[in-house]
Amino acid sequence: MKVLINEEQLRQGIAQLAERIRTQYRDRPLTIVGVMIGSLVLLADLIRLIDLPMRVDLVQARSYREGTRPGPLVINLDLLSSDIRGRDVLLVDDIFDTGNTLWELVPQLDELGPASIRTAVLLRKEGRCEVRMQPDFVAFDIPDGFVVGYGLDYGDLYRNLPYVAVLEPHELSGEPGS
Ligand code: IMP
Ligand code: MG
Repeated sequence: MKVLINEEQLRQGIAQLAERIRTQYRDRPLTIVGVMIGSLVLLADLIRLIDLPMRVDLVQARSYREGTRPGPLVINLDLLSSDIRGRDVLLVDDIFDTGNTLWELVPQLDELGPASIRTAVLLRKEGRCEVRMQPDFVAFDIPDGFVVGYGLDYGDLYRNLPYVAVLEPHELSGEPGS
């Protein structure tokens, strides 16, 4: 694999992301909702950089991928433990790829009556979007390619890497063209 964003670059990009989020909300109380499992590492780093009155909550979204290709999406709001009615909600995910995950999640959370919903992602892949939305906050735009690390997995591995790396064709087992 090849390192795409190293630890220092991540640190800087996430600090800038946190600053943009803080400026957006100023002193309004915020509910940050992380999309499990991919946003786990970003969430932990990001919340510690945002000095606002804050609740932290979780939802789960899983696309049953075949290798790297997107599959059916399953959303589970059972982890959401606080009442988001009337709250400003920031939904945090690891990556905006086709966009389908956030496109489906936003209206489901909207039904719970928050004052606002915005979205923040660590990564956005170029040229992959299939929906009529873009995230409100993006730390890094990256070329199309399958990335792992800093929360992102391939077959449930590599989430613990402290950097973001691109898998090379021979590391993608059983993929067409690999
Ligand atoms: P989307 O719904 O296509 O935007 O994809 C979002 C979800 O797919 C992310 O939350 C990730 O869990 C997963 N995903 C998309 N691209 C990658 C990748 O390059 N590496 C690892 N996971 C990915
Ligand atoms: Mg995910």
